[in-house]
Amino acid sequence: MRHFLTLRDFTKEEILEIIDTAIEIKKDLKAGIYKEQLKNQTLAMIFEKSSTRTRVSFETGMFQLGGHALFLSNRDIHLGRGEPVKDTARVISSMCDMVMIRTFEHSMIEEFASYSRVPVINGLTDSFHPVQLLADYMTMVEYGVADGAIVAYIGDGNNMTHSWLMLAAKLGFELRIATPKGYEVNRKILEVALKMAEESGAVITQTNDPKTAVRGATIVTTDTWASMGQEDEKEERIKAFSGYMVDDSMMDTAHSDARFLHCLPAYRGQEVSESVLEKHSEIVFNEAENRLHAQKGLMVWLDKKRER
Ligand code: CP
Ligand code: NVA
Repeated sequence: MRHFLTLRDFTKEEILEIIDTAIEIKKDLKAGIYKEQLKNQTLAMIFEKSSTRTRVSFETGMFQLGGHALFLSNRDIHLGRGEPVKDTARVISSMCDMVMIRTFEHSMIEEFASYSRVPVINGLTDSFHPVQLLADYMTMVEYGVADGAIVAYIGDGNNMTHSWLMLAAKLGFELRIATPKGYEVNRKILEVALKMAEESGAVITQTNDPKTAVRGATIVTTDTWASMGQEDEKEERIKAFSGYMVDDSMMDTAHSDARFLHCLPAYRGQEVSESVLEKHSEIVFNEAENRLHAQKGLMVWLDKKRER
């Protein structure tokens, strides 16, 4: 049995296999073909943070695969009142076939997974957001921009940046990260990525100059400057990130055919300008839709690896 906690635990071949499954599933859906590959199965979805895309895509995806999804916010279950993670894990995994968790500390899902009898999927922690990267890479493949990609990530060194690090290091593409001073990525995660990059050939760099990172990039991406849980820091972050907005002049520095990606939700006038987001809305909203297909691919893939 496999869990999906970070991309670090997956080989390049496995990541590409999941993406291929997702692309196949998307093709079927567009042709009106519904294969009930997870018939009668139940996905428990534990949300300790807000969500639009993750909730809708997992719940819809599970339904389309013939299964059922349970939305469990920490206001509704005893986990939010202090029932231990390990007890919650043993109970839920004795009844459900898969569990998706969105939470704060990454160690919480690691602990949950270690007590779970069924696959656990990371639906975002403070450290990683790997299901988003499946959708992002699927989008890159669909638009024919995955091979030879030079990705520039401009903004906060956060869960999205860490996941881009894992993806680049596994698949071997170039990733340039630009953050303000003091908002760099986690050093340990960077070290792990650089070690993996030695094997895959990925070129990973970090700078405090967004223009250096973006020069000639074929994909420019960013994320909110204040992630969930950092609401109190919002004002101070807006000041610290001055000059980091992906706007038209930043996009003009990138490759002439550069694409823009954003995991959403986007804060126009902060990490991205209205103009850039709207110019690239076709790919960005496809990226969002691909959450549905990518996660269906992931759930089908995880189910196949499960011994019963
Ligand atoms: N991108 C993403 O995970 O969106 P939600 O927070 O809406 O789930
Ligand atoms: N970094 C953001 C991603 C939201 C999908 C957050 O954690 O809030």
